[in-house]
Amino acid sequence: MADITVTEHLLLHQKQSPHATGMFTGLLYDLILSGKTISRRINKAGLLDILGGTGEVNVQGENIQKLDEIANRIMIYRMERCGALCAMSSEEEAELIRVRDDFPRGDYILVFDPLDGSSNIDVNINVGTIFSILRRPEGHKGEVTLEEILQPGVKQVAAGYILYGPSTMLVFSTGQGVHGFTLDPGVGEFLLSHPDMRVPKQGHIYSVNEGYWKNWNTATREVIEWFHNCTTPKGGSYSARYVGSLVADFHRTLIYGGIYMYPADANKPDGKLRLMCEASPLAFLAEQAGGKASDGSRRILERVPDKLHARTPLFIGSADDVTAVETIYAKHAR
Ligand code: AHG
Ligand code: MN
Ligand code: MN
Repeated sequence: MADITVTEHLLLHQKQSPHATGMFTGLLYDLILSGKTISRRINKAGLLDILGGTGEVNVQGENIQKLDEIANRIMIYRMERCGALCAMSSEEEAELIRVRDDFPRGDYILVFDPLDGSSNIDVNINVGTIFSILRRPEGHKGEVTLEEILQPGVKQVAAGYILYGPSTMLVFSTGQGVHGFTLDPGVGEFLLSHPDMRVPKQGHIYSVNEGYWKNWNTATREVIEWFHNCTTPKGGSYSARYVGSLVADFHRTLIYGGIYMYPADANKPDGKLRLMCEASPLAFLAEQAGGKASDGSRRILERVPDKLHARTPLFIGSADDVTAVETIYAKHAR
């Protein structure tokens, strides 16, 4: 495969995707630069005193890891200067971030999880950055309001993630399919390695933290038992895989198929994952790749967030596997 860079790939697709304008290409360029900067810090984390926790708790009530904060600062610093944004929302920031007037601004809105899989940082397991790109609603001027940000996932103009693992990969979509790029550290460029990624219609892997079994309701237990007993297209049983980093579990699901599940439970009535910076961007990718993403009964992309850090249960991956989940929940809802 010829060495196609992200920029060349965007230009190749420029005519189809209306959002692949120069402004958007500039936004993506700075997102990529942020990802490379975060990747470099992660790769050296064991050698610098940046592992472990900061001792603080974030708006999510979760311990902030030093690399969470470092990744968050890198993203905010880089992206508020990119000239394409009017506002941002970070998983690590309680409030909406409005781009200051003294910076060049545009009409895009960036929502991101600067570092996903924080609990895995100190044990050198894959972590990632997830991003979602919205447009400011037409005709709105002046200070950006929260209502302008709280848009359903169907409004995303682009979404993607950077996965920091054995190789650093960028996977994103602008609505023209899903494309994966692998960082060639030698040249410092992300090169096209996975063109037009498609989720298999049914998979052979289910991914869920079964440690929550005692907190799940009857319907959810039936969903999990479905994957204990159902057979794969080749007639075998499903395997269980759970990395504990959503980006890594999703990336494997995107390539191998199957399903990633984070259900609601007795302690987390709306689940743990954030609708705007985790579920929606990955749901956009899943659907662009021919898969599905649901909260158990509704399409994730149609969920309108009621607040910036709204949470949602998430069932995402192969269309047939997600449909099986919805069928079980629908039976219990009757
Ligand atoms: P984050 O590190 O951004 O808070 O995300 C962690 C999420 C997700 O990456 C992962 O799948 C899930 O939390 C793991 O949660 P459990 O430890 O409850 O399984
Ligand atoms: Mn996360
Ligand atoms: Mn995070």
